[in-house]
Amino acid sequence: MDIIVIFVFAVVSTGLVKGTCPSTCSCVDDSSGSKIYCNSKYLGRIPALPNDTYYLELGFNNITEIDIQFCKEMPQLQYLYLHYNEISVIEPFTFVDLPNLHYLYLHYNEISVIEPFTFVDLPNLRYLTLSNNKIRSLVSYTFINLTNLYEL
Ligand SMILES: *[C@@H]1O[C@H](CO)[C@@H](O)[C@H](O)[C@H]1NC(C)=O
Ligand SMILES: *[C@@H]1O[C@H](CO)[C@@H](O)[C@H](O)[C@H]1NC(C)=O
Ligand SMILES: *[C@@H]1O[C@H](CO)[C@@H](O)[C@H](O)[C@H]1NC(C)=O
Repeated sequence: MDIIVIFVFAVVSTGLVKGTCPSTCSCVDDSSGSKIYCNSKYLGRIPALPNDTYYLELGFNNITEIDIQFCKEMPQLQYLYLHYNEISVIEPFTFVDLPNLHYLYLHYNEISVIEPFTFVDLPNLRYLTLSNNKIRSLVSYTFINLTNLYEL
């Protein structure tokens, strides 16, 4: 009896830690990790995901913020598509735990201010799109150490 209880508990906690494919999304596992397709699902926030996610499509949803904790839990993320959402604020240092980020699409959101130290230490970032937001001011120290950025 005790053994069964412990076994069930272990399975449940692993599931919680690892995160699973959200039921509304499609997911593919390949040798690099998980690819998650969640475009156009009316999501109001970023769902819990497998922590080996390296490719994440969340375009055309109703997401209002990028949770820093989420970024901490996704160290392998390389592709993050968040275009056509309702993001208005990005906290400084949101992306510091995503050293592998290559593509970050944020066009067509509601971002009005980009704080200093928002895009720091992303040595692999190649594409960052910010068009069609409501950006009124850009302060210095916003884009630091983006040595490989090709397109803005
Ligand atoms: C994902 O979570 C599992 C279980 O906690 C852990 O063993 C693994 O190292 C984590 N993977 C990453 C990439 O953080
Ligand atoms: C949710 O997002 C979709 C796609 O961007 C948009 O068409 C819709 O108007 C949004 N819904 C609300 C309630 O904001
Ligand atoms: C930029 O990168 C250099 C070399 O890697 C590092 O010494 C410096 O602290 C970085 N600056 C910031 C603001 O992260």
